Amino acid sequence: MLSDIEQLARAFNCAERVLIITGAGLSADSGLPTYRGVGGLYNGNTSEGLPIEAALSGPMLQRDPALCWKYLAELGRACLGAHANAGHRVIAELQRLKPQCWLLTQNIDGFHRAAGSPDERLIEIHGQLAPLYCQSCGQLEHDLAACLEAQLPPRCRQCAGVLRPPVVLFEEMLPEKALDSLYQQIGQGFDLVLTIGTSASFPYIVEPVLRARAAGSFTAEINPARTELSATVDVYLPGKALDVLPELLGHISGDRICKSTL
Ligand code: OAD
Repeated sequence: MLSDIEQLARAFNCAERVLIITGAGLSADSGLPTYRGVGGLYNGNTSEGLPIEAALSGPMLQRDPALCWKYLAELGRACLGAHANAGHRVIAELQRLKPQCWLLTQNIDGFHRAAGSPDERLIEIHGQLAPLYCQSCGQLEHDLAACLEAQLPPRCRQCAGVLRPPVVLFEEMLPEKALDSLYQQIGQGFDLVLTIGTSASFPYIVEPVLRARAAGSFTAEINPARTELSATVDVYLPGKALDVLPELLGHISGDRICKSTL
């Protein structure tokens, strides 16, 4: 009788097409705050008395760029002060093992790329933190660290317009290219869908799991706290990504079954 983690390792070894979905919980092990749950950024109002979703929204960036940037800068400083962890590196290794292993992330920290996940199989559905660009003339600004130290909001060197990062703020559309890529891949189906460190709060995060489930594919979740997906997936592994992922990789490497598909 296989344990849950061994079942997941076996499913990975037997799968051709894999989708890994990551959220803030993966980078929590790098020291970044999560958005929801214990210590989450969204558990309360800002010092201005606003829900953080209002402070970090597209309309707020237009109306009061300094206020929106106050919270963008907090995210930016947290990301610049942290690094990819072993969990990110295990995921990059899983993608190396499976040429059809795709990665859908809600994280804007860029840690997946830093850990070696290939650009062409990485879908950053909430965008990324850098490079900043000018909302007026489009000029790029690559020195995020310097911008965060200067007066906020950061301004364009060329035309003094307000800069912004290519992230998806609240009330903004998802990036078209990332969405197209996601739905093109979902359309081809996956043999295995694994979520890691996400509260699964958005339909485009839940949908690939439910579709895989409906198609009879294997589904799994790694999260120390249960989510609405936990009861649905084939295997729910309660635990921190940083603990579970290296153990999973150990089982994947040790399992002989379906090795021919590697
Ligand atoms: P959340 O903050 O909503 O959820 C984080 C999840 O990670 C929770 O379910 C935690 O239980 C779990 N978690 C905490 N520590 C963990 C660990 N060490 N290992 C594994 N899991 C852990 O983050 P997301 O689901 O990623 O969007 O949602 C984040 C999105 O919400 C952001 O991209 C942002 C926000 O709205 C936008 O800004 C558009």
